[in-house]
Amino acid sequence: MNYLEALQKRYSVKKFDSTKKVDSEVLTRILQAGKLSASSLGLQPYRLLIIESTEMKQKLISAYHNPSQISTCSHLVVLISKKNIDERYVDGYFRHISEVREVGIESLSLFRKNIDGYTQNPNQQAIESWAEKQSYIVLGNLMFAAALEQVDTCPMEGFKKKEIEEILEIDTDKEGVTVTLALGYRAEDDAFQHLKKVRKPEEKLFKFI
Ligand SMILES: Cc1cc2nc3c(=O)[nH]c(=O)nc-3n(C[C@H](O)[C@H](O)[C@H](O)COP(=O)(O)O)c2cc1C
Repeated sequence: MNYLEALQKRYSVKKFDSTKKVDSEVLTRILQAGKLSASSLGLQPYRLLIIESTEMKQKLISAYHNPSQISTCSHLVVLISKKNIDERYVDGYFRHISEVREVGIESLSLFRKNIDGYTQNPNQQAIESWAEKQSYIVLGNLMFAAALEQVDTCPMEGFKKKEIEEILEIDTDKEGVTVTLALGYRAEDDAFQHLKKVRKPEEKLFKFI
């Protein structure tokens, strides 16, 4: 199956087949696609919680407006974004670059200056919104990789943020839940799989200049 066929076949699942689990090797490859996502300045201002425990999925049901995906999915990925980028975090990032690329930290000083100029933005709201945007790039890559692996998904924002953060014991001074992704295999009787895709006509979506 080529990637356009995979994207055509994918849809936002409303009900998964709860008897089918995503194999751990397949899941690992999908998560690798998330790991390989590009992020602004390479800062990856996010982390992912992968919920596989039935008990935790049960607990989370009440936090969703329409929870049929949560009660039936194989795994639920929760994307959590940082709310601020402090000096310690950037220090860690530079130590990591230095180790992986085997270069001295001093050779990265210009890059460091650029990053500090951006992350020391006193407007915390701007940093939060920037970090959330980076998480959505991960979401897109996870969904794309899952489609190619013939694993079904449903991206989900329809949750009560405060409730989900409480259940997952997120330190909300530092980070917040941005978006979630349910993974599994579509239930045979999920009628949504038969709906035609509704997308803007290309002349409204694309303009070549
Ligand atoms: C960021 C994001 C959040 C979404 N949140 C939900 C959700 O909470 N519940 C749901 O059933 N669908 C959700 N959707 C699915 C969209 O409704 C769906 O992608 C859109 O209608 C297009 O349909 P398709 O994905 O089946 O092609 C979400 C999609 C995105 C991209």
